[in-house]
Amino acid sequence: MGSFRTLDGVDVSGKRVLVRADLNVPVRDGRITDLTRIERLAPTIAELAGKGARVIVCSHFERPKGKRVPEMSLAPMAVALGQVLKMPVAFADDCIGPAAETAVAKLAPGHVLVLENTRFHPGEEKNDPVMAKGLAALADIFVNDAFSAAHRAHASTEGVARLLPSYAGRLMQAELEALDKALGNPAHPVMAIVAGSKVSTKLDLLGNLVGKVDILVIGGAMANTFLSAQGIAMGKSLQEAEMHQTALDILARAKLAGCEVVLPVDGVVAREFRADPPIEIVSANAIPADAMMLDVGPATVAMLLVKLAGVKTLVWNGPLGAFELSPFDKATVALARAVAAATTAGRLISVAGGGDTVSALHHAGVIDQMTYVSSAGGAFLEWMEGKLLPGVAALQR
Ligand code: 3PG
Repeated sequence: MGSFRTLDGVDVSGKRVLVRADLNVPVRDGRITDLTRIERLAPTIAELAGKGARVIVCSHFERPKGKRVPEMSLAPMAVALGQVLKMPVAFADDCIGPAAETAVAKLAPGHVLVLENTRFHPGEEKNDPVMAKGLAALADIFVNDAFSAAHRAHASTEGVARLLPSYAGRLMQAELEALDKALGNPAHPVMAIVAGSKVSTKLDLLGNLVGKVDILVIGGAMANTFLSAQGIAMGKSLQEAEMHQTALDILARAKLAGCEVVLPVDGVVAREFRADPPIEIVSANAIPADAMMLDVGPATVAMLLVKLAGVKTLVWNGPLGAFELSPFDKATVALARAVAAATTAGRLISVAGGGDTVSALHHAGVIDQMTYVSSAGGAFLEWMEGKLLPGVAALQR
């Protein structure tokens, strides 16, 4: 990661500052169900407003595909941001053009305005220069605080950053610094845990990691594909037969790079995919033909704990088993608690990200005990793939 421009020493007093936030928060039945992204954004907004900036917040929400979809309005997020900041937050029902310009003209120093969903305009996702110009016309300075949207080269993440003096917000800065500690410039030995259902969606990520980490732990249904590729009968376990050769190639690349790949040595199997079915714990090479592996077993957990004790940095994406169903959360919870304990004791730098991983860490009750938990989903994965994200590239010195 090259160095990027931060808000340190930037004079924002009286200036119009356009902040790209990620207000793409979980909503159910019209209500925001998780404020994490808004709470993490708030310090940047409070700092700018506190320094007398006129703060203009823009973001996408969901995927309205260039059309105005009333259910995808950012109006509720403006209200929530005001509640978190404990100050009034204005709302403009467009992000460019006369409605936005009028609202910005009325904005006093130290005050905050949220603009309507950038994806209501087709130009946003096309990174249309006209749309970028429309956004740039509203402000003197651009601040990108949306790492989680930085993998999108859109008008509000990339285009506008090329038109205004641009800086990383405090959340973006924290995210980039934490990620750099985990993979950019980490303390070795480094362990990565990559799990999830499909090898095919994490191919680039695995390819990048084998060249960077010392130990690569593969869990979840992805591990089934790797075991099966090596001729181990996996019964009815979820796996991707068409990825066998790819899995073997990754193992060969890891060997060349001196990266130790760790696969489950035992598993928790069941015959039905539901909560609390009858289960068996079997060796990974003795899975019954009519059963499926739904979690890694206790011998695997014990082995992972020994390996964990010897590493200095951990980067984690993906739960080890079908953690949303009891009792297949056991291995993930045990590992999460050990990671939390090592982190709290100062022995480990632990960085985790991705939607399921964050849910699993919440479930294990250790979300606050990791060194850093990324609020990003897709952007975290692309970063793990070793890609320079377009929204970040635009902030580099
Ligand atoms: C996310 O939630 O991961 C970001 O807001 C990006 O959303 P997108 O996948 O719709 O671009």
